[in-house]
Amino acid sequence: MNEKKILVLHGPNLNLLGTRETDIYGNITLEALNQEIEEYAKKLNMILDIAQYNSESDIVAAIHSSAGIYIGIIINAAAFTHTSVAIRDAISAVSVPVIEVHLSNIYQRDSFRHHSMLASVCMGQITGFGKKSYLLALDFFKT
Ligand code: DQA
Repeated sequence: MNEKKILVLHGPNLNLLGTRETDIYGNITLEALNQEIEEYAKKLNMILDIAQYNSESDIVAAIHSSAGIYIGIIINAAAFTHTSVAIRDAISAVSVPVIEVHLSNIYQRDSFRHHSMLASVCMGQITGFGKKSYLLALDFFKT
């Protein structure tokens, strides 16, 4: 296992960043977000794999195959955060530490977003800091 390798997983609809609900998510595209995350990781001397999936099964599969490869996972499961027992169970099934992140503050939004199926099996949750939510999670894994 590479001591500095992190997996960043983006969930459904995050491929539409830049045009999707810009009042909530801003104008940053997924490509630009990934570039910023990559640049920050380089500064921290960390190695990233980044993937975006619209399907729950792809996210589950990515979590399964993370064991023994990554020291941590940063996941924005997007809408699946609020619904997915399957992603929760995948996180529980592997021994890789996971940080849940969100661009928006899920507690300031619709009440159905206030509950995360994932939070209790993650190390922690960072929500509401835009792209910095991901960078703060990288900071955690650096130490
Ligand atoms: C999100 C918040 C979720 O409630 C929503 O379904 C998303 C994005 C965020 O990053 O703020 O798609 O995870």
